[in-house]
Amino acid sequence: MTEADTRRLLVELAASLFARGFSVGSAGNISVRLDDGYLITPTNSSLGRLDPARISRLDAGFAHVGGDAPSKEVFMHRAFYAARADAGAVVHLHSTMATAVACLPDLDAANPIPPLTPYFVMRIGRSMPIVPYYRPGDAAMEPAIHAAAHGARAVLLANHGPVVSGKSLTDAVYAAEELEEAARLFLLLRQHAPRALTSAQVDDLLRTFG
Ligand code: 13P
Repeated sequence: MTEADTRRLLVELAASLFARGFSVGSAGNISVRLDDGYLITPTNSSLGRLDPARISRLDAGFAHVGGDAPSKEVFMHRAFYAARADAGAVVHLHSTMATAVACLPDLDAANPIPPLTPYFVMRIGRSMPIVPYYRPGDAAMEPAIHAAAHGARAVLLANHGPVVSGKSLTDAVYAAEELEEAARLFLLLRQHAPRALTSAQVDDLLRTFG
């Protein structure tokens, strides 16, 4: 895919997330790894109205080299790319259900959402830790996210929202959508002691779908 194609796809997927309420106002940011650097959404931009020509361009060292000023969450994205060689894109949202889970104090911080459905396991994997709260844009979050991302494709930032990686931009967006729906199911079923997938079923999914 050319960089121009990637820019167009980023605009299209971001607008789709915004149109369906996964992001409101100027919340959320999305980045993509290129051969020689990264694209990331500009700070204070709405995911609903991105201009492909103004998307921020970073070099391989994450220095801003083109487009509008980058998201203040560059550290969050850099932590994922540094921890995960398989990350081709990173999506951060304040989507309501996943953020609601990130506000609950009494969950297992190593794995707050049980494996209720196959697609949650296939898209997010075996674990999705909660990273402690940091102020948005605080560079101090980078080591904490980096440590968590070594063993997880996605994390929940306490009281803030999800950060999800994927092999490609499309994969990362699909995973962020799946996580939001898994969080919705988890909250819906919380008082009902739902049946989770067994560890053998989770193993089977990960063996089959990676
Ligand atoms: P930016 O507008 O700087 O990308 O920040 C938005 C956000 O979601 C903060 O967490």
